[in-house]
Amino acid sequence: MGRKTFESFPKPLPNRKHIVITRQQEFVVPEGVVVVNNLEAAFFEAKDDPRPFVIGGGEIYKQAMPFAETIELTRVHESFDGDAFFPKIDPAIWKISQNDYHPKDEAHPYTFSFLRYVRK
Ligand SMILES: NC(=O)c1ccc[n+]([C@@H]2O[C@H](COP(=O)([O-])OP(=O)(O)OC[C@H]3O[C@@H](n4cnc5c(N)ncnc54)[C@H](OP(=O)(O)O)[C@@H]3O)[C@@H](O)[C@H]2O)c1
Repeated sequence: MGRKTFESFPKPLPNRKHIVITRQQEFVVPEGVVVVNNLEAAFFEAKDDPRPFVIGGGEIYKQAMPFAETIELTRVHESFDGDAFFPKIDPAIWKISQNDYHPKDEAHPYTFSFLRYVRK
């Protein structure tokens, strides 16, 4: 994950290795969190994980997308203002392999879909 995404968490998420990418040389993190200075080093840190995830944000998604095998996307069927964006998913490269639609309910104020994209 990018440094800005890491800083958006109140604390590290449980039960997973965190690899944070920053250009800062002295970025201080809680014990157990790994800091790297480029994407290649992040991939090296994840090399023994059979299913590593890139979890954002926008800058890191954009740089990592060429290396991804799968995209797990939640599309919320509503428009919102924002200042960070997921990159365009090129339909010449990616196809939807799974599409689960969820209507809104008491716990979910908007309809949404879980989409899995794989390379064509
Ligand atoms: N909806 C979702 O699924 C989702 C997921 C994740 C995040 N988010 C949201 O996205 C926002 C953050 O996204 P963002 O695009 O602004 O930031 P980001 O991708 O989380 O982090 C950007 C930072 O990563 C570091 N970085 C980026 N490329 C690098 C490279 N090649 N080498 C070394 N360091 C690099 C830099 O850190 P330094 O400035 O420290 O050098 C840069 O400022 C937050 O609001 C977060 O809540 C949403």
